[in-house]
Order: sequence, then structure tokens, then C-alpha cells
Amino acid sequence: MKKIFAANWKMYKTPDEARHYFAEFLAGVKSIPHSQDKEVVFFPATICLEAVSKALAGSAIQWGVQNAYIKNEGAFTGETSMQTVRTLGGQFVLIGHSERRSLFFENDEMVALKTAQAQEMGLRPLLCIGESLSEREAGVTQDVLRRQLTMGLAKTQPGKDLVVAYEPVWAIGTGKVASPAQVAEAHTWVQQILVELGFAQTPILYGGSVKPENAAELLAQNFVGGFLVGGASLEPASFLKICSVG
Ligand code: PGA
Repeated sequence: MKKIFAANWKMYKTPDEARHYFAEFLAGVKSIPHSQDKEVVFFPATICLEAVSKALAGSAIQWGVQNAYIKNEGAFTGETSMQTVRTLGGQFVLIGHSERRSLFFENDEMVALKTAQAQEMGLRPLLCIGESLSEREAGVTQDVLRRQLTMGLAKTQPGKDLVVAYEPVWAIGTGKVASPAQVAEAHTWVQQILVELGFAQTPILYGGSVKPENAAELLAQNFVGGFLVGGASLEPASFLKICSVG
């Protein structure tokens, strides 16, 4: 299975900044070791999609959206159609990121509908799961992960295109990375549930304060199939370093 290095730009960067980024990133990408065993994916803000799709045209680097809706078109103010993303050449859609769950009230039912829609539209769903700090402290991490996976995948057919990201909410954007042991434990559990649900071949990415300094140790843990990187993906040099691990 190829390792996946995904960049979540969140609501950062203008189209011009995205173009400048890729001028530097694409110059450096040739020096990434073992690149034939890796996939690199960018999730820019929707307003940068045209700039990003043009900059990446003809390269092996893929892109997707950070969120999209469950209908192809219609009176859905402010939403993005997965069908249109596909038409523009996008391959991925991020679903259920913790910021969407906590700030935009996305629940497991909506996550399930979006994951199914992605599959229907031929996009690869990158389904994000993870426990909050209070859930970890209450000892219910495993229950939360089981619920998010079981409900989130309830409408999806087992297939090769799914990707899951385990992102403990307390590690996102906080600088508090999960320890290698915590990552190994959670990924082993996630893998076990995916096997039970019929999704055994799913890459499981880790996300939450991944940096060039901690990437190698985290990638060496069991069932870590790559990363979903926020803050450290915003500078080409630091994301190139992360992509060079492994
Ligand atoms: P971070 O974000 O790397 O800035 O912690 C990760 C994410 O939100 O996907």
C-alpha cells in the first residue's frame, strides 16, 4: 500500500499564494525519496481550486476538497458539488474533519451520506475520526472511534478507495502530538474495526501536530499509512520534509 501524505490547508492561502507555493513545491518534489511508493494530496480552500488544479496539471500530485455536499446541483447556497470537483479533476474529498463536526455541526449521519456520495461520484473519501480530550480522559476513546467508523461507513460499500484519518482532536493545531504509543494503540484499534466492517485494505493516516521532527517516528508505528498535515503543510519546505520520510 502506498503511503499517503495529505496537506489540509484549511482556510489559509489566496489563489496567488497557492501558485507561489507550487512553484517552490514542484521544484522540490523530484527529490522526495521513494516517491513511487507515495501519494501526495492537497486539500486547498475551495476558492483556490482553480489555481491548484492548474498548477498541478500534468504532475502526479492529487488534490481534493475539504468539504462537499451530498447533491450534484440545486438550491444549496454555499455548498460545493462532488460531481463538479470530479469534473475539475479532483480525486479526494475530506469528510468529517473535527472542525466540521465541532464548528459546523456535522454529525455521523451526514458524514455517512457524504462518504457514500463520494464513492458514488468516484471521489476517494478521506474520512476523519478522533476523540476529544474529555473523551480520552473519560476512557471512551475506543467507543468513540468505533461509533464514528460504524456510523460513518454505514452507507458505503467496501472497496479500495476509502482512506481514514485518525486525528485526536486534542492534537489538532495544538502542538501536542499524540505519543508513538498512543498512535500505535489507536491505529491498531481502527484497523481492527475496519477489518470487522469489511474495509481491511484501508490506509489509516495520522493527523494532529505532525511536523518534520516527529514524522519519522510516527510513520514507523503499526498501521500508520501516512499523514494528514495542517499547519506544517503551509510552507513548501516543511511539507517536503514530511513527504521525504519513509
Ligand atoms: P495540524 O492539523 O497538523 O495543524 O494539527 C491537522 C488537521 O487538522 O488535519
